[in-house]
Amino acid sequence: MDKVQADVGLELAARVAAAVKSSLDLDITAAEALIRPSSRPGADYQCNAAMGLGKRIGRQPREVATAIVEALDAGDLVEQPDIAGPGFINLTLRDSWLAGHMTDLLADERLGVPETDAPRRIAIDYSSPNVAKEMHVGHLRSSIIGDALVRLMRFQGHEVIPHNHLGDWGTPFGMLIEHLLDEGFGADHTISDLNGFYQEARKKFDADPDFAERARQRVVQLQSGDEKTLELWHELVEESMRHFLKVYQLLGIGLTPEDNYGESFYNPFLADTVTELEQKGLTRVSDGALCVFPAGFTNREGEPLPLIVRKSDGGYGYMSTDLATVRYWTGERGATDLLYAVGTPQSQHFQMIFTASRDAGWLGPDHRAVHVNFGSILGEDGKMFRTRAGGSVKLIDLLNEAIEQATKVLDAREDNNFDATEKTTVARAVGIGAVKYADLSNDREKDYVFSWKKMLATDGNTATYLQYANARQLSILRKAGQAPGPGTKVILAEPAERALAIQLIQFPAAIQAAVDGYTPHKLCTYLFDTATAFSKFYDECPVLKSEGETRQSRLAMCALTSKVLTLGLSLLGIEAPARL
Ligand code: ARG
Repeated sequence: MDKVQADVGLELAARVAAAVKSSLDLDITAAEALIRPSSRPGADYQCNAAMGLGKRIGRQPREVATAIVEALDAGDLVEQPDIAGPGFINLTLRDSWLAGHMTDLLADERLGVPETDAPRRIAIDYSSPNVAKEMHVGHLRSSIIGDALVRLMRFQGHEVIPHNHLGDWGTPFGMLIEHLLDEGFGADHTISDLNGFYQEARKKFDADPDFAERARQRVVQLQSGDEKTLELWHELVEESMRHFLKVYQLLGIGLTPEDNYGESFYNPFLADTVTELEQKGLTRVSDGALCVFPAGFTNREGEPLPLIVRKSDGGYGYMSTDLATVRYWTGERGATDLLYAVGTPQSQHFQMIFTASRDAGWLGPDHRAVHVNFGSILGEDGKMFRTRAGGSVKLIDLLNEAIEQATKVLDAREDNNFDATEKTTVARAVGIGAVKYADLSNDREKDYVFSWKKMLATDGNTATYLQYANARQLSILRKAGQAPGPGTKVILAEPAERALAIQLIQFPAAIQAAVDGYTPHKLCTYLFDTATAFSKFYDECPVLKSEGETRQSRLAMCALTSKVLTLGLSLLGIEAPARL
């Protein structure tokens, strides 16, 4: 291993595994070494493996722990370990190693985060709004979570292919196209209000039988590939995409039209997909529709639930398209992992799609398919998040309001001395960062309450707090007039210095934990803990007022903390302004 040990927790695990092998002649993986950061006084890490191993070989855990400790070759990293309670092994990093490691990290762009030696090809479906409708808050969550996962997994060295599964096909397009023909675009060839446009079309469809008939004819023409119809359909898709791109741009989310793989994209594959299911004997006709009944899914009456793969009128729907999607990404594109950042209400749909795809052989034993599900955003009244008037929230308005709210926060500061340009940039970073972080810092499966006050608070687990902490570190370095050079010697004399160092070395583990469970909130918690450890360090260890090597060392700790916060936030898609 190079000088910069990627993650000392992993390194300790490897050493313990080797000790288990040599003392007990047992093969265990690094994960089975059960190395965890420790909250015991004096211990930085603990090894919890002796209890399980004792059971396995019928020996006292404490005896097993003693054998491991005797065989452990880790004197370069840790002090002599002690054994606590039934057989916990307490591990305390050597101050000399820890200080040297800080110096190494200062020169490491990746801050200790290893690049994977087993890269995967990950196709991730996220954002996925519906054409001719405004994106709603569900799409906001999907966009934010999906984008953070893309950044995290790419940083680890995986090949990540984002795809935007736009709802751009199906029967509503008959009425939408007819409505477009009746009304035309607005003055500047745009539809300023997508939802309004959709609702008008819907109203006409319900009230006017002639219009409804025209709409139905139009669907037939669309599906048979009529050129004029396709052209109009295209215009609707492009117009909607312009709306979506505005939201992505404001959010700082990298999706572009090149990432569009809408429902229409899978059209040419649907017939073959269904034929394959039929040939594999997986389909059955039920109520005139061709269905697959994946094992294990039943309704309340205990009857098997169908995935409808071809409707009785010969058409294909959402379910057929998602089966074709799996088949395409694993078959044509060689994806090893399929991720779907979609709300929890679609859980059963995805579980059924995955089961059917395994039966069809499109997902093999080495493929991973995961529904990265998420809960709802609630208003402060605890009900579904809505505008004051009770309507659905238009994302573009919400994001613009975020920037306005952030501007107010900046204006309220006494020492506010931004010029207009800088204020605009900073307000954007703070406002958008607040919205994204509020989403990412909550366990994604839970609902959370949308509150401007909470998300823009300058203390607590918010982006604003982290951005302030980072700006303070950078301001200290500016005031010092010099950034600590690469070889700066770090001295960890005070408890708060050492505690901050211990926190900083956990960055790689935090990234890994966020990726392992597709749980960005674990990285948020880590960043918050880091900023908190910094704040204690800053309270207890004067930086600018100290001298000589101590001053240099403390400046290095400021620089390193700022690097960790900046990189961590950027992997969540959040900016960290240099001045705040
Ligand atoms: N357009 C869908 C919606 O708004 C989400 C699509 C999710 N992706 C998928 N492959 N089904 O609910």
